[in-house]
Amino acid sequence: MSDTQKDMILKTVGLAKRYGGVHALEDANFELKAGEHVAIVGDNGAGKSTFVRQITGVEQPSAGEIYFDGEKVEFKSPIEARDCGIETVFQNLALADDLDVPSNLFLGREERYFNLGPFSILNERKMLAHAQDALRTTGVKIPDLRNKIRNMSGGQRQCVAISRAASFASKLIIMDEPTAALGVQETAQVENIIRTLKSRGIPLILISHNLRQVFDLVDRIWVFRRGRIVGAVDRSKTDGNEIVSLITGVKAAVDAPDFA
Ligand SMILES: Nc1ncnc2c1ncn2[C@@H]1O[C@H](COP(=O)(O)OP(=O)(O)O)[C@@H](O)[C@H]1O
Ligand SMILES: [Mg+2]
Repeated sequence: MSDTQKDMILKTVGLAKRYGGVHALEDANFELKAGEHVAIVGDNGAGKSTFVRQITGVEQPSAGEIYFDGEKVEFKSPIEARDCGIETVFQNLALADDLDVPSNLFLGREERYFNLGPFSILNERKMLAHAQDALRTTGVKIPDLRNKIRNMSGGQRQCVAISRAASFASKLIIMDEPTAALGVQETAQVENIIRTLKSRGIPLILISHNLRQVFDLVDRIWVFRRGRIVGAVDRSKTDGNEIVSLITGVKAAVDAPDFA
């Protein structure tokens, strides 16, 4: 393995996904380096969420290969991806309405951490403590953690999901439009969580329509259009106009050999 390969956290080669006759993703060659924060931008229907579902085991690609942390991977489920250190905040949140914050933070993980059978109720205290910890590190303020998720605002729910991901992510975190439904303050909070992840060296893929946010936060911007990657540009070497031109197709593609 070459040096450049060693620094690569995620790489996809010719990744594709078809739904019946719809080519949602075609020939996607994507790369993410260690510690790098990147954005994926593109119009609605460009294939961004589809891409996320292929690399996180939610769906199986129709073609192509995925390399994660130096190994070829074929995740059969999101749990497999998570076990490899990938945390994802999906566009459609997976939070359980009738559970409180600690239970949601540990959703699907309870067994691994607290396999005590009939005594597992004792661990509620431990889960609450960890939840408080997780929210403290991310700076998210939720008045009563025992409140059921159902009774929380959209912003609070989203912050719980992001805290959950941020506190468990070890190798990669993916956020699909994390602030699309948030107010100004909540958006700022999420952006702070992202900066903390950067300082912890955890790579990030951020899907966002908010170009101000993208330019504030990431090192590199990947543009998707109609299921294809049409550009990957360093933040410092581009501007909003170029990105918008790529998104809309006014500008065909940059780095032609890779993105023909
Ligand atoms: N489960 C599905 N079945 C059929 N078509 C789908 C499915 N999921 C996504 N698509 C189609 O794939 C394309 C890409 O969608 P998506 O990945 O959600 O785009 P984005 O996240 O960039 O808005 C769209 O044309 C969408 O309608
Ligand atoms: Mg989407």
